[in-house]
Amino acid sequence: MRGVPLPAVHPEFMMEPAYDPHQDAGSSRDAIGLGMRTDGKALNTRHGTILTLEDISVSFDGFKALNDLNLYIGVGELRCIIGPNGAGKTTMMDVITGKTRPTAGKAWFGETLDLTDMSEVQIAQAGIGRKFQKPTVFEALSVFENLELAQKTDKSVWASLRARLSSEQKDRIDEVLQTIRLSPSAHRQAGLLSHGQKQFLEIGMLLMQDPQLLLLDEPVAGMTDAETEFTAELFKTLAGKHSLMVVEHDMGFVGSIADHVTVLHQGSVLAEGSLEQVQADDRVIEVYLGR
Ligand SMILES: Nc1ncnc2c1ncn2[C@@H]1O[C@H](COP(=O)(O)OP(=O)(O)O)[C@@H](O)[C@H]1O
Ligand SMILES: [Mg+2]
Repeated sequence: MRGVPLPAVHPEFMMEPAYDPHQDAGSSRDAIGLGMRTDGKALNTRHGTILTLEDISVSFDGFKALNDLNLYIGVGELRCIIGPNGAGKTTMMDVITGKTRPTAGKAWFGETLDLTDMSEVQIAQAGIGRKFQKPTVFEALSVFENLELAQKTDKSVWASLRARLSSEQKDRIDEVLQTIRLSPSAHRQAGLLSHGQKQFLEIGMLLMQDPQLLLLDEPVAGMTDAETEFTAELFKTLAGKHSLMVVEHDMGFVGSIADHVTVLHQGSVLAEGSLEQVQADDRVIEVYLGR
């Protein structure tokens, strides 16, 4: 079941941490040109940063999949993460969503939520949504019903579908259907959609929970050119209202959406900046882009 309640921050998580995790973080953010942005809801983001990873390490039997990783995402930012296979991109998303615990380091959502101290469910409820590469929609249900279920908190599929929708809930589903351009297919069975449309539906299901930070792992893999183009438009529309972290190998796609690009290599940040800047970086060419 995918449905999780709308973000409601537990009072315990609203407490200030014992020390200020940003005491020396400003220079890193300034270095990559992130200014103050509009504030997220309910979440304390007074420094304009929605996600802070500091000195994160993850070891698997002594092998460091992440190695003193430092990364800052601004509120409303659309960040692309690139890097060779095995660089640690998926492991980083696993740390952010609580699937993997770091062996060292700090991970903050906003100013006060310590992600290393929260369960996967708490993290999802706090407003971090993740989309895996393979779409996982309910194929036997209609597009509309999939969105309806994503909105509900009840664990039982059939109980959720039997419960009556309020007009606000229905309006929200219609709005998301428009955003993902599936209004004409609202009553189609999800299993009959194209691969790309299933991806859009799954993004729509994430949007039903109104996450403040969206993590998307290789979203355009297997999409047609037209679907890839629409995904770029969609992400640009979502940025600002949401913060997005997108892992993608398709450089054309990255070039069409990225504010800032972070290059991961051997579990650390190798380079950060505009796509042009990182593409011109000799170390990035060496390990990732090729000569
Ligand atoms: N559960 C695990 N156990 C052991 N090694 C792992 C595990 N998960 C990932 N790794 C290793 O960590 C490294 C980073 O993997 P991953 O985060 O999947 O990289 P990417 O997504 O950038 O391709 C790889 O060398 C991978 O083999
Ligand atoms: Mg990966």
